[in-house]
Amino acid sequence: MYCTRKVADDLIWVGADDRRLAMFEGVYSVPRGVSYNSYLLLDEKTVVFDTVDHAVEKTFLENVEHGLNGRTLDYLVVQHMEPDHSATIRTLLMLYPEAEVVCSKKTEGMLRQFFGDAVKMNIKVVGEGDTLKTGKHEFTFLAAPMVHWPEVIVTYDLTTKTLFSADAFGTFGALNGALFADEVDFFRDYLDEARRYYTNIVGKYGVQVQALLKKAATVEIKTICPLHGFVWRENIGAYLEKYQKWSLYEPEVNGVMIAYASVYGNTENAANILACRLRDKGIKTTMFDVSVAETSEVVAASFQYSHLVFAAPTYNGGIFIKMDEVLRDIEAHSLKNRTVAFMENGTWAVTCGKQMKEIFAGLKGMNIIEDTVTIKSALADGQEAQIEKLAEAIAETM
Ligand code: FEO
Repeated sequence: MYCTRKVADDLIWVGADDRRLAMFEGVYSVPRGVSYNSYLLLDEKTVVFDTVDHAVEKTFLENVEHGLNGRTLDYLVVQHMEPDHSATIRTLLMLYPEAEVVCSKKTEGMLRQFFGDAVKMNIKVVGEGDTLKTGKHEFTFLAAPMVHWPEVIVTYDLTTKTLFSADAFGTFGALNGALFADEVDFFRDYLDEARRYYTNIVGKYGVQVQALLKKAATVEIKTICPLHGFVWRENIGAYLEKYQKWSLYEPEVNGVMIAYASVYGNTENAANILACRLRDKGIKTTMFDVSVAETSEVVAASFQYSHLVFAAPTYNGGIFIKMDEVLRDIEAHSLKNRTVAFMENGTWAVTCGKQMKEIFAGLKGMNIIEDTVTIKSALADGQEAQIEKLAEAIAETM
């Protein structure tokens, strides 16, 4: 049974929600689900823009069949080959073998890598600025390499000023019947998930996102149709501003994110005291215990906040493993331009502060507060003064 919604009279959302997926890409928890969006255009020619994840194949195929209502499929535009959008290409083309696959040169190679020669494909390679006329609509294609893979193109409808934006402008979270961002309170209820999606999926590729934003700024955009999350037709500028900030690695909050690991509560105690001293000074704080927090949440918060404090015990002569995982992930996402401070603990051979510092020394634009608070097992009498000093040093840089 089909489950579709109209984006416009001749454009139908034929995607689906997945609320059973535990870990998106095997890494990111999605407790609120995720949507895989696909769009069907009914012009003189018919077009499907991207397919969906294998998990929702049945619904997708029923949606396409219902939308086509007996018509044939003329084009399948493949903007992105990650399997959450490409896994169903093979089945779709077996059902509609006459459809021409419109894609970038790199996608052509990836189609063979994923599907071999099992399915005969009629491929039309397009590059930046090429156009496709389908009747009333005319589309042009823009290269968007590394947003999120190298083969990505986005598609702009010159007729309706709609941008099919691939992974860009997506968010985690199922749609739950709402297709448009203006049908929910997006900035209250979904912004955190949009940030977590952006920072973890394409956060490393700020330069490439900037390149796409610059191209997008040259055309009028009335609607954005991403591959995850809501379609945008109102207040697009506010979301573009968020993308601008995130891709430039500019913090949204002038405040401190404290991420700590604590085996027996002593490092946690120091982190809590620091948070209190910062709040005493009117500084916004947020805290994560990295042993229980999602790493993707900490990565997202590290993009959100201007100042970061990491507190951890030394473990096996190195950084406590849960903290090490978080720091390596932040490093892998090439975070830039933050003020960073550290607190270290250890009962003997306290070394992890130096090792945590070394990770951040390799990242661009990091202002590292040199004085690390060192705890030997538990805070000693009088060490509150050291924590107060660290809070003052942070306050001076705000
Ligand atoms: Fe939603 Fe990069 O795939």
